Amino acid sequence: MKKNLLFLFVALSLQTISAQNQTTIIAIKNDAGAPTINKNIYGHFAEHLGRCIYGGFFVGDTSKIPNTKGVRNDIIAALKDLKIPNLRWPGGCFADTYHWKDGIGPQEQRPTIVNKWWGGVTEDNSFGTHDFLNMCEVLGAEPYLSGNVGSGTVQELADWVQYTNFSGKSPMSDLRRKNGRTEPWKVKFWGIGNEAWGCGGNMTAEYYAGEYRKFATFMSDWENTGGITRIASGSNGSDYNWTEVMMKNIPLNMLGGLGVHHYAVIDWNKKGDGVDFTELQYFQTMKSALKMEELVTKHAAIMDKYDPEKKVAMLVDEWGGWYEVEKGTNPGFLYQQNTMRDAVLAGATLNIFNNHADRVRMANLAQCVNVLQAVILTDKAKMITTPTYHVMKLYAVHQDAKLLPVSFQSPLYTVNGETLPAVSASASKDKNGAVHISLVNVDSKNKNKIEIDIKDLGVKNFTGSVITSSKLQDYNSFDTPNKIVPVIFKGFENKKGKLEITIPPFSVVVLEGK
Ligand code: AHR
Repeated sequence: MKKNLLFLFVALSLQTISAQNQTTIIAIKNDAGAPTINKNIYGHFAEHLGRCIYGGFFVGDTSKIPNTKGVRNDIIAALKDLKIPNLRWPGGCFADTYHWKDGIGPQEQRPTIVNKWWGGVTEDNSFGTHDFLNMCEVLGAEPYLSGNVGSGTVQELADWVQYTNFSGKSPMSDLRRKNGRTEPWKVKFWGIGNEAWGCGGNMTAEYYAGEYRKFATFMSDWENTGGITRIASGSNGSDYNWTEVMMKNIPLNMLGGLGVHHYAVIDWNKKGDGVDFTELQYFQTMKSALKMEELVTKHAAIMDKYDPEKKVAMLVDEWGGWYEVEKGTNPGFLYQQNTMRDAVLAGATLNIFNNHADRVRMANLAQCVNVLQAVILTDKAKMITTPTYHVMKLYAVHQDAKLLPVSFQSPLYTVNGETLPAVSASASKDKNGAVHISLVNVDSKNKNKIEIDIKDLGVKNFTGSVITSSKLQDYNSFDTPNKIVPVIFKGFENKKGKLEITIPPFSVVVLEGK
């Protein structure tokens, strides 16, 4: 017995030592047939939840906080800097309780509702369709509206499309004009319900597919919009049957996109603290996050069966880390801090999306401001950007760039005898010929050596940025807002067309070659 334990100990130690000393050879292919990384993979999500909209984005136009039509200017500037490509709204679970007509017209006349899902707070509907769509215009982001299927009607959703998209004379476009907006916004992305298997109505896949067909039929694109993309509510993580039923039962010409939701959670009953976590909890979060690779691969294989030409997009329209709410905050508001764990999680997940760009054409990090894995946190007049924000900003170089497929055998990151791939990577070439390689070291203790042959990539001179910190649990606070920011990365050498790189533990590196 003792002998066996000794053997196991030696084997594990050897594995760790070899992981530390080995060099990971990453091959990057300059493949003309590779897909373009859709910029919408870098999308965000804003729900009427906690302090995301009210007290986050929207402070109202009488606020002392500098704002444009009630939306904070500092948030607008930060998101423009991030090149935010799209924003999903108004939910989430909230979307299936939302009646858009409550949020138009003079603010003082708008009815209130109770936000049943999130904290039971009274929603005064002061932030509605005009506020959201005008904000998207200012941000330069495509709006992605989530329609109410659970408690709404077909007519209500059809009317919303006519209200936002029709330039001719009609009851809804006339109402829009009366409310101060002449030109339609031409909203392209339309979700037909949210999490229909759960908060969106607890429907079976077969029942929802039927509902989807009915709603989609009456959502005319009003001919002058350039077409709308109808998006079906997707599976809960690994519910592959859901994807199968959607693909089988919905005609492809009615289906622009199919969602998937997956949160990185240790255990739904014991999610762990957002800041005060152990190495084991970090490992468990990353294990859940890296499951995204398997989910995307398996859902894509099902979609391929019905849609070999890959016309239907996969949208991971909710993803991110989910922990216990910060102590002392409303449990229904889902406010959590954002540490280096979240930076690693974001970098590795975005690499997965990039590498599956042939099918994954949109993703929405949950959520943008003050909720879950937020890129922005606010405290009254103060605003900070999180480590996740900085990862998204470094990775913005991949938006609409051509994927350069990578292949490599990752070393292992081992905790308590369980392993995960330690290295994550993706690469792309932008329209100016610049090459970007994003590397993540998931390993919390060991640095990793990487070698990349760059001779065929048509670039010579490399620069780099890195996001890391002294502790995995480090974060940006309102007192130290710049504790974690990207800095120049010097841990590489170009040796006759071979990049030799050493990436520190729990870090995200982006290299640029020109
Ligand atoms: O993002 C928080 C919630 O998570 C969303 O409202 C819902 O769609 C999901 O379950």
